[in-house]
Amino acid sequence: MTKETRLIVRTHSGEGTVDVGRKLGALLHGGDVIALSGELGSGKTWFTKGMALGLGVSPHMVVTSPSFALMNEYEGEIPLFHMDVYRLDKVSDFLDTGLEEYLHGEGAVAMEWSDRWPQILPDWCVQVHLTVLDETSREIALSGQHKRAVAILEQMKQELER
Ligand SMILES: Nc1ncnc2c1ncn2[C@@H]1O[C@H](COP(=O)(O)OP(=O)(O)OP(=O)(O)O)[C@@H](O)[C@H]1O
Ligand SMILES: [Mg+2]
Repeated sequence: MTKETRLIVRTHSGEGTVDVGRKLGALLHGGDVIALSGELGSGKTWFTKGMALGLGVSPHMVVTSPSFALMNEYEGEIPLFHMDVYRLDKVSDFLDTGLEEYLHGEGAVAMEWSDRWPQILPDWCVQVHLTVLDETSREIALSGQHKRAVAILEQMKQELER
């Protein structure tokens, strides 16, 4: 583990948040895990929609919160597994669903409400926390400590500065 690397970016529209997600998605490899957190309506699903676009998922695919299905899979250059654990009450429910195996699978993972059980998250995940500043503005904090997460964040910093 190295010291935490952290990037903060502000967006001023839903599309702005999609764009940040798209830049992150384009950097991902199989096995990468993006742990999303932030209050209701903060933009976790919009950010994930951007990740899907960045991974080459067709823009015609509608990315919605998989609250009922628990997980949606999108076919990009690598699969994107989009999970939302909001409706699960206990960590044992998460383990019972079998979703954990996707955290160690071949695709990239985006998990909404991932702060609920930090113990299930792999060390190498990138944390993305969204804060509502006002009706159309969000602060997006991206952070990680593991070598892989730091590598992603360093590339992301360059992308954001472009
Ligand atoms: N800067 C912004 N970034 C993201 N979303 C924004 C922004 N400004 C306005 N919005 C709006 O906020 C909403 C974000 O919804 P989204 O479904 O992504 O949130 P969520 O965090 O996934 O919510 P939930 O907790 O219900 O899953 C959208 O309606 C979007 O248009
Ligand atoms: Mg959502």
